[in-house]
Amino acid sequence: MALWNGRFEKDMDELVKAFNASVGFDQRMFEEDIDGSIAHVTMLAKCGIVTPDERDAIVAGLENIRQRIRSGEIQFTVEDEDIHMGIEARLIADIGDVGKKLHTARSRNDQCQVDARLYLRREIRAIRQELLALEEVILRKAEAYAEEITVGYTHIQHAQPITVGFLFMAYFQMFRRDAERLADCLERMDYCPLGACALAGTTFPTDRAYTAELLGFAAPTENAMDSVSDRDYMLEFLSDAAISMMHLSRWAEEFAWWNSTEFGFLAIDDGFCTGSSIMPQKKNPDMAELLRGKCGRVYGDLMGLLTVMKGAPMAYNKDFQEDKEGLFDAIDTWKACLRIFTKMLENTTFRTERIAEQLQRGFLNATDVAEHLAGQGIPFREAHNLVGRMVKACEARGCGIEDLNEVELAAIDPRLSRAVLGDVSIPACVAARRSFGGTAPDEVRRQLAVGRAWLDVTEQESHEK
Ligand code: ARG
Repeated sequence: MALWNGRFEKDMDELVKAFNASVGFDQRMFEEDIDGSIAHVTMLAKCGIVTPDERDAIVAGLENIRQRIRSGEIQFTVEDEDIHMGIEARLIADIGDVGKKLHTARSRNDQCQVDARLYLRREIRAIRQELLALEEVILRKAEAYAEEITVGYTHIQHAQPITVGFLFMAYFQMFRRDAERLADCLERMDYCPLGACALAGTTFPTDRAYTAELLGFAAPTENAMDSVSDRDYMLEFLSDAAISMMHLSRWAEEFAWWNSTEFGFLAIDDGFCTGSSIMPQKKNPDMAELLRGKCGRVYGDLMGLLTVMKGAPMAYNKDFQEDKEGLFDAIDTWKACLRIFTKMLENTTFRTERIAEQLQRGFLNATDVAEHLAGQGIPFREAHNLVGRMVKACEARGCGIEDLNEVELAAIDPRLSRAVLGDVSIPACVAARRSFGGTAPDEVRRQLAVGRAWLDVTEQESHEK
């Protein structure tokens, strides 16, 4: 019989037990549930609500249960309903009536929320470490490829030449924002709901600030009703996860393309590819594709919880029990994806000889020629038009802008000559894009230095916490 059975004539239907139970998934928060209970009973003793002896018996009982869960001796079943009652019931079975005092001045409604916040806090810190590890690999690769030129695309069309290091630093910014978003999320969720009780607080003279302090929160949550009905912090985390998964998925998409026979720009290590059961020649970029696929799953986790919450009246409703599986799934998926992507990136080589062939195509230097002409007094709009006509002439002859001769240039416009065009070689174009945030190797090195400084400080801070 459940701990709440006083007013019931009979036990739950077997189907209901299984349907109602959350212990199958919320038992992963058992450490946090015990930490929360220890803080709670410590507060109860400080406020004279239980005696020091009662506190000590309860704390010892909980620590004993912790060890037995860790060792696998305690196994939960649907009879336990959820992790909160599973642990409380064992405490009472182990230490007797004094165990029945633990649930004074709290409810499962606030208890499940303090567990979730503690659990998520720990996981956010772990995920931030994974993000920082990825950033470290990106920086190292960007340093190694700071000078290597590749094709920059817009609309999947050749646009302008860039360096590989520059491209990497673009991704660096994306994952930096992801890490910063997580830091924001941590800060906003840093309030302790324990002691809010069912929805309206308690008649006992509790000290919620003390509980918050014991559990390492900045302060208690302000309003009891909000404390038990708020899932914003989970939604915020899930949207952070969805955005970051989108970043991973985009890069994974690029990996799959660049790994294709048509591109051949990079070679993913054998250890990160799989073969085909029928086509012997195949080496498929399955990890990149799985990363793309798992992005959809995390979007689903976010949409799932948003939908659970949208029609929920105040305060706690059982619908909210549906908050955890999607949250856990997003945590596991995001963490695993970061880990595998980081390792795959580390083990990928860029095939610069293949890239070099493509640099000769698609008039990558066209914008630079126009800018160069504009620098010599031809208004940019006019220069743009002149280069467009050069490109047309090149297309007819099957050559590049740098191959046009004096006669061809003069036929387009008398102001044009090879001397006026200047050095329009691809390396010269890249080196000249020195504007703040541009792709010139010198400028990329500046971005690298800023990125390195941020990573060092952030890593330092994450170890201090
Ligand atoms: N297991 C529930 C959950 O995860 C917590 C219990 C609160 N349930 C209740 N009937 N008051 O949300």
